[in-house]
Amino acid sequence: MLELKQLAKSFGEHKAVDAVSFTLQKGEVLGFLGPNGAGKSTTMRMVAGVIEPDKGDVLIGGHSVVAARREAQRRLGYLPEGAPLYKDMTPVEFLKFMAAARDLDTKTRAPAIDRVIADARIASVTSKRIGALSKGYRRRVGLAGALLHDPDVLVLDEPTDGLDPIQKRAVRALIARMAPDKAILISTHTLEEVPAMCNRAIILARGRIVADGTPDSLATENGGGLEETFIKLTDANEVDAA
Ligand SMILES: Nc1ncnc2c1ncn2[C@@H]1O[C@H](COP(=O)(O)OP(=O)(O)OP(=O)(O)O)[C@@H](O)[C@H]1O
Ligand SMILES: [Mg+2]
Repeated sequence: MLELKQLAKSFGEHKAVDAVSFTLQKGEVLGFLGPNGAGKSTTMRMVAGVIEPDKGDVLIGGHSVVAARREAQRRLGYLPEGAPLYKDMTPVEFLKFMAAARDLDTKTRAPAIDRVIADARIASVTSKRIGALSKGYRRRVGLAGALLHDPDVLVLDEPTDGLDPIQKRAVRALIARMAPDKAILISTHTLEEVPAMCNRAIILARGRIVADGTPDSLATENGGGLEETFIKLTDANEVDAA
């Protein structure tokens, strides 16, 4: 469903993403891990077609993000890092706007909006201004927007960042429910949630993939759990680069 082919992006002299390749099948929930600045968000932005790669390509359902961006984006839901824009809209206005931008059939718009309001658990805030919501609720409004057109591929940049424990669990349950029919790429710094949420994990360091496997296999690799593997692989990479 999703294929990254030798994806690369530099900012000036700095290689933020350096020849990243992997494929994601239906049913896979991939935890995209790595230290601050590793290139996770830059990779996800390229997958979402928000920024153009210097090299390489991304295929979503076989459609190239570079050559056929609209077709590719139709099959993708993207939750960007940080707070969503449109602070002056209410969540309902935002979702109506997204439904129009996504070109959803007018008949399916209202049920789709109702569905994502329930899934993202934002019913209690739908008529407040987005800018006046707490951080966690803003994340959940963003998530609702990403789910609106029920895409095959989901790219969620730190979806549980800022959520309270109850909402984190709700998001994990939602992801588990959606997982069988979709390919899902999720970045997170909360390593404890990876085995619960993901059936695969990739560790990125300095723009390159340094590990790819099941959360279990990565955790046992160095005998000290996922955190140990994360520290070993990303530290080693820092030393290599020095
Ligand atoms: N628009 C930009 N202009 C210049 N440099 C950028 C830009 N966006 C990202 N970078 C740089 O690219 C590198 C990768 O950043 P990116 O945001 O992809 O990291 P990340 O893995 O998402 O980190 P975090 O865990 O902090 O979210 C960093 O060195 C960052 O400073
Ligand atoms: Mg990031």
